[in-house]
Amino acid sequence: MAGTTMDKIVSLCKRRGFLFQGSELYGGLQGTWDYGPMGVELKNNVKRAWWRANVYERDEVEGLDAAILMNRLVLRYSGHEATFSDPLVDCRKCKKRFRADQIEPGEKCPEGGLHDLTEPRPFNLMFKTTVGPIENDENVAYLRPETAQGIFVNFKNVLDSTNRKLPFGIAQIGKAYRNEITPKNFIFRVREFEQMEIEYFVIPGTDEEWHKRWIDERVAWYYQYGIRPENLKQYAQKPEELSHYSKATTDLLYRFFPERDEEKQFDEVEGIANRTDYDLTCHTKGGKTTLKDGTFLVNEHAVLKQTYYDQASNQHLTPYVIEPSGGVDRITLAFLMDAYEEQKLEGGKERTVLHLHADLAPVKVAVIPLARNKPDMVEMAKRIKKSLQSTGRMRSLFDDSGNIGKCYARQDEIGTPFCVTVDHQSLEDDQVTVRHRDTMLQDRISVDSLHRYLEERLR
Ligand code: GAP
Repeated sequence: MAGTTMDKIVSLCKRRGFLFQGSELYGGLQGTWDYGPMGVELKNNVKRAWWRANVYERDEVEGLDAAILMNRLVLRYSGHEATFSDPLVDCRKCKKRFRADQIEPGEKCPEGGLHDLTEPRPFNLMFKTTVGPIENDENVAYLRPETAQGIFVNFKNVLDSTNRKLPFGIAQIGKAYRNEITPKNFIFRVREFEQMEIEYFVIPGTDEEWHKRWIDERVAWYYQYGIRPENLKQYAQKPEELSHYSKATTDLLYRFFPERDEEKQFDEVEGIANRTDYDLTCHTKGGKTTLKDGTFLVNEHAVLKQTYYDQASNQHLTPYVIEPSGGVDRITLAFLMDAYEEQKLEGGKERTVLHLHADLAPVKVAVIPLARNKPDMVEMAKRIKKSLQSTGRMRSLFDDSGNIGKCYARQDEIGTPFCVTVDHQSLEDDQVTVRHRDTMLQDRISVDSLHRYLEERLR
C-alpha cells in the first residue's frame, strides 16, 4: 500500500513547507503550485537522481536544455496544433466544464439530478502567447506542451556536435504547460509542470527490443529510490488510447488513490512510448506525415533533412525513437506518498515520518543544540553544521526551532536521515549524539569522525 492518502500529503506539504497553492495570497491560480523550502530541495534531488541514472551513468545519452517558447511551426509540424486537444463538455444546468472522458457515469449535478451535458468538442490544451510587441496571428507562439519537441528539432545539432552513432539518446528536464480543463488532485494534474524526458534514437527494427529494455530500466529506477513494487503497475495502452505519434506505449501507474476501489487506485506517473520515426519525419525538410484526424502535412519549412547516415547499411535512414517521459511533479508526489508513515510508538506516542531515500531527502543532516539559550552549545552546533555543509555532499541545517523533541518531530516529518545533537557533555568531550530517522537509535560519535560516519551511511 502507498504510505498514505493524498489529503494527508497535502496537509504535510503545507505544514512543513513543501508546497503552497500558486498565488495563494490573491486567492490562488488553479492548476499552479509553488515549491517551498523543502519542496524545492526534494524536487531538485528527484531531478538529480534521474539525470545521474540516465545521463551520467550511461555512455550514450547527452543532455539538452531547449527554450520553452518555440516557433509555431515546430508545434504545427509535430501535429500539436491540429490534434493536441481533449474532449470538452459543458453542463447546461450548473454551467461547469469537464473533460468528457473524466466525468463519472451517473455523476450528480449540484443543481439537482444528473448533469445535462453538451456534445463533446475538442479543446486545444496549448497556451498561446505573442512574441514581440505586435499581437497578430503571425506572431503567435506556444508554451511547449511537452519538452520532447525541443529535442526533436535539435536532433541534427546534437548528432553533428557529438559524433554519436545509433543507438543514442538526448535527455532533458524542463517546464511544460497545458491548459488542462480540470486541474485536480494536488500536483497530479496541473497547468504548469515539469517533465523529464529521453528521446532514444535507434535503428528501425530494433525499436521493440529497446522499448522493452527502457520499460525495465525505468521500473528499476523507481524501485532503487524506494517505491514499493506493489504500488507500481505497468499498463500497455490499447490501440485506441495511443497518442497520435505512438505505435506502442506502456504507462507506469502509481497507486496515487489508495482510498478508492481497487481498479481506480492507480494512475499514470510516466509513459514509455515507441514514437517510431514520426517526429523526425515531421521535422525534416520534405517530410510527409499523417495526423490522427487523417489529414496530411508536408514539411515545407524545415531547413534541413534530419536523417542519419548508417555505415553498416550504407544508407541514410530516419531513426526510430523510444521515449521514457515522466512528470517531475507526479514522481515527486509518488515518492512522498510511498515514504509517508504514521507510526505508533511505545507508551502510546505517535510520530509521522518520511522514509525518503537519503539521496532524495531535502535535508541530510540537522544539527541541533540541546539548549538554545546556551551560547557555547549554539556556537558549537553552528560550527558543526558549517563544516558538514562545506563538504558539498550533504545539505545540512542548523535547527533550534523548538525543544529537542519538537526538532526531532519536524526533521522526521521532512525525512531528514540524521539529527546531530550537541549537549552539555559535547562541550567537554567533543562528542555528539547522532539519531537515525528510521530506527530512532542513537550513537555517540566524536566530532572528528562525524563526516566519515555520516558519509558512509548516506552513500
Ligand atoms: N512527450 C510525451 C508526453 O508528454 P504525456 O503522457 O502527455 O507524454 C508525460 O506526459 C508525463 O508528464 C506524464 O506521465 C505525467 O507524469 C506528466 N504530465 C502530463 N500532464 C500533466 C499534468 N497536467 N500535470 C502534471 N503532470 C503531467
